[in-house]
Amino acid sequence: MKIGIGSDHGGYELKEYIKAYFEKEGIEYVDYGTNSKDSVDYPDYGKGVADAVASKEVDRGIVICGTGIGISIAANKVKGIRCALCGDTYSARMSREHNNANMLALGARVLGVDLALEIVGIWLKSEFQGGRHENRVNKISVIEG
Ligand code: RB5
Repeated sequence: MKIGIGSDHGGYELKEYIKAYFEKEGIEYVDYGTNSKDSVDYPDYGKGVADAVASKEVDRGIVICGTGIGISIAANKVKGIRCALCGDTYSARMSREHNNANMLALGARVLGVDLALEIVGIWLKSEFQGGRHENRVNKISVIEG
């Protein structure tokens, strides 16, 4: 599984911690920036990773900004994206099992690094349960048009 990762300046440091975790775990990833703490606009990076997921350049995406709010809103504007902003491990698991989230958003100014890495680990290993949830997720696609 190849993961696309991106952040604005607020999420840059956490992005680097997550990349170190990927390297330790042997998880393949593509970094869509940003590459420093210089101020940038989160919609650009949310869209960058979301486009990569929607076009299947990568299998799933992780995006980070200060709160995770702006970058998740931006990512969710791209057709086919279900980006879940998670601040706890239960939501991270449910976002995969019930919502088939193909992107995870994190708030770097909200979460400690250890919790963020635990959320990432659980989100990556959790799988969509399908069944009754499939129909509900399909209804989201219908709304999207
Ligand atoms: C940038 O200062 C901040 O607004 C951004 O990282 C994010 O929290 C937006 O939702």
